[in-house]
Amino acid sequence: MSNTSLPGGTWTLGDLTVTRFGYGAMQLAGPWVMGPPADRDGALAVLRAAVELGITHIDTSDAYGPQVTNQLIREALHPYPDGLHIVTKVGANRNEQGGWPVARDPESLRRQVHANRENLGLDTLDLVNLRLGDAEGPQPGSLAEAFETLAELQRQGLIRHLGVSNATAEQVAEAQAIAPVVCVQNMYNLAHRHDDELIDTLAAQGVAYVPFFPLGGFSPLQSDALSAVAARLGATPMSVALAWLLRRSPNILLIPGTSSVAHLRENAAGAALELSEDDAAELEKISSRT
Ligand SMILES: NC(=O)c1ccc[n+]([C@@H]2O[C@H](COP(=O)([O-])OP(=O)(O)OC[C@H]3O[C@@H](n4cnc5c(N)ncnc54)[C@H](OP(=O)(O)O)[C@@H]3O)[C@@H](O)[C@H]2O)c1
Repeated sequence: MSNTSLPGGTWTLGDLTVTRFGYGAMQLAGPWVMGPPADRDGALAVLRAAVELGITHIDTSDAYGPQVTNQLIREALHPYPDGLHIVTKVGANRNEQGGWPVARDPESLRRQVHANRENLGLDTLDLVNLRLGDAEGPQPGSLAEAFETLAELQRQGLIRHLGVSNATAEQVAEAQAIAPVVCVQNMYNLAHRHDDELIDTLAAQGVAYVPFFPLGGFSPLQSDALSAVAARLGATPMSVALAWLLRRSPNILLIPGTSSVAHLRENAAGAALELSEDDAAELEKISSRT
């Protein structure tokens, strides 16, 4: 793995040091994260390019494809270079319509952990996030049975660290009372800032916050303020959105997704953009905290 000066430096998840600029592999599967990619060699090339750039944090799930993304990661990168950390998640299956039915009973969770180990070719998974809520977002309710199941698999040595995803602040606290939580992965970006308070709380605790859909996900971020700041800086809106996240809080780790080597390189370079106080103030106009 090459030495890197990726923007944002590094963060330590438990005892695992990762680059704050990571890569989200979800978009490597076919349309709507189902089936194989149209350009299989292109998908493998993106994964190899991520490692060549020095990225040491790849986010995935066996539900992507399903299985497709994990198998691509294994084909492209196994045996994994020292220092590369693959973060996966459990808590949902896929159905024939491409839906994400909840699967958080103990038996389903054990099955998903084993499927991730098998498809990634790993005895121990570095970090497993328990995905909560549903497609509408976080939902209240106890995670105790599910998180205790993962904590048991951790004690058995199958998982190194645990996190939660799509979680409410109450669920994060409930998980922390069961086992250490090294990251929270929720939807957050310039236009969706409902987690502002949670990010600050986690920063004070030394816990990472990993925003999914940092570029808006399936609906790219669009706003006049974002376009105006990007135009003033001669940058793309994506670069501004990523640089803003790195600036927002030191515990934020980026996992922007792309199926294009060119976009991957563009994002890695663009996230290094320096935003001034004035730029940040203008970008505040976009925010929605609901
Ligand atoms: N925990 C959860 O429930 C959950 C849910 C969703 C996602 N995730 C994770 O979060 C990661 C990030 O989410 P995401 O990939 O869905 O959304 P995202 O990072 O917000 O956006 C990805 C989209 O932006 C496009 N894009 C990226 N860079 C670009 C560039 N420089 N120029 C133009 N377009 C660009 C990509 O298209 P191209 O392929 O054409 O570049 C893709 O359509 C996922 O990979 C996944 O690992 C987690």
